[in-house]
Amino acid sequence: MSDVRIGQGWDVHRIAPGRPMILGGVVIPSDFGLEGHSDADILSHAITDALLGAAGLGDIGMHFPDTDPRWEGGDSLMFLRHARDLVSANGYQIANVDSTVILERPKLKDHRAAIRGKLAETLGLGVDQVSVKFKTAERLGPVGEGLSAEAQAVVLLSRK
Ligand code: C5P
Ligand code: MG
Repeated sequence: MSDVRIGQGWDVHRIAPGRPMILGGVVIPSDFGLEGHSDADILSHAITDALLGAAGLGDIGMHFPDTDPRWEGGDSLMFLRHARDLVSANGYQIANVDSTVILERPKLKDHRAAIRGKLAETLGLGVDQVSVKFKTAERLGPVGEGLSAEAQAVVLLSRK
């Protein structure tokens, strides 16, 4: 296996009233949230898939089937911790994570520090190794119409 490995992840969830909005393990004040079997934390899901992808270990559904009642309403930081441990057990460390949440509203930039801090703590990284960016979809498509939210992530692993 090579000394460095790259991974990519993506996720989408429907927006729904009466649901919490949790991004990177941080509760975002909002009058609507994201629908899903787990806590619907799209950002944690995208980063989990990027980690699993970089290590060649399949995807989040393979490790945490959404038919399994154990994961219902689950804390998605648990998925991240599991992926972090698998990466480490396979002889790699995380060099950095970069990510983007695409959501029309609410504005997320005031929550950036909290999200980066929570993700860094969960992954055992410095805050400088975890980047979180936000974009609207310029009112285009399902994200732009406020029907859904998406997250994308890339990670780089290096051999320990
Ligand atoms: O999508 P747009 O290019 O208009 O986003 C401009 C900036 O607004 C982003 O760089 C980000 O800092 C911020 N933003 C945000 N919350 C969102 C979408 C964008 O804070 N939901
Ligand atoms: Mg998801």
